[in-house]
Amino acid sequence: MAGVNAPRTALVTGANQGLGRALAEGLAARLNPDDLVLLTGRDQRRVTDAAREVSHLPGTRARVEGRLLDVTDTDAIGRLADELRGRYGGVDIVLSNAVSRLLPHESQAERADEFIDVSNTATHAVLRSFGPVLRPGGRLLVIASSLGTLGHLDPRLHQRFDGASLDQVEYAVESWRTAIHHNTAAEAGWPRWLNVPSKVAQVAAVRAVAAARREHDLATGTLIASVCPGMVDTATSRPWFDDYRQARPPAEAARAVLDLVFTERLDPALYGELIRFGTVLDWHGGSPPEEQDRMVRP
Ligand SMILES: NC(=O)c1ccc[n+]([C@@H]2O[C@H](COP(=O)([O-])OP(=O)(O)OC[C@H]3O[C@@H](n4cnc5c(N)ncnc54)[C@H](OP(=O)(O)O)[C@@H]3O)[C@@H](O)[C@H]2O)c1
Repeated sequence: MAGVNAPRTALVTGANQGLGRALAEGLAARLNPDDLVLLTGRDQRRVTDAAREVSHLPGTRARVEGRLLDVTDTDAIGRLADELRGRYGGVDIVLSNAVSRLLPHESQAERADEFIDVSNTATHAVLRSFGPVLRPGGRLLVIASSLGTLGHLDPRLHQRFDGASLDQVEYAVESWRTAIHHNTAAEAGWPRWLNVPSKVAQVAAVRAVAAARREHDLATGTLIASVCPGMVDTATSRPWFDDYRQARPPAEAARAVLDLVFTERLDPALYGELIRFGTVLDWHGGSPPEEQDRMVRP
């Protein structure tokens, strides 16, 4: 990363537990004592406790500050970006990680608004607010999933996301939300399992923003991308799988993401793409995960 000698500011959303917490711990261990990690989350108590615990870990070197940030409050996302621009001249690392926990027995339709707000509306706000204040050499990574490639959706839906602008992605997400409310999502081809369109839309949003600033970012060693952390052993993912042997502990999953954050030699092929363990996943790849779709309640 550029700017290793100037103090850096890093921010992680949904960082009081799970992968986000491991990302905050890894940042705190790999950044310098002058650098600042903003560990953010929606609950003041959980955030304060997590920030205190991370700051006392033996490997922690950077300063760690807990900050309340409910990502469904898009104005708060904007205010925090403005604050960081005012206080530090911008931000160096943004990891957009928060997700709303959805359990297999819950109705997908009943949880759709919250799920979409946390994963998608918030991602759009993070890209819009933090993209412009990302410092040269910075990293803005959206934690998505390997489900985020276009092929996981019904072909009828591809044109909504393929080559779309951020406004168009936002429109597609809101159309999907409306179809769920009107009980017309299935006939339009939307899968039941919210995680699939949600992750595709996150990756499409990142692609849209990256396409508009690619040349400038590559010239300054800046990376905007989405990331798949692989299967991670967290309270959110555990109820979804019978066989959990392939799931990695959060600290291990975080390491691959942080290697991308701290890489000195940025491969231009990674820019704007969905990256899993350092490799680009084909945007057009994947097939609809029909088995999981049958598993979940409408
Ligand atoms: N686990 C996996 O196998 C896996 C696989 C692929 C991708 N991912 C992705 O990795 C990311 C992290 O997942 P995880 O498994 O670590 O989930 P997790 O353990 O449930 O953690 C989710 C975090 O998001 C926070 N959050 C929820 N709503 C929020 C809101 N409105 N504002 C701010 N924060 C909010 C939660 O806070 P509270 O503690 O307050 O609820 C929690 O800190 C997600 O983007 C997920 O899709 C995970």
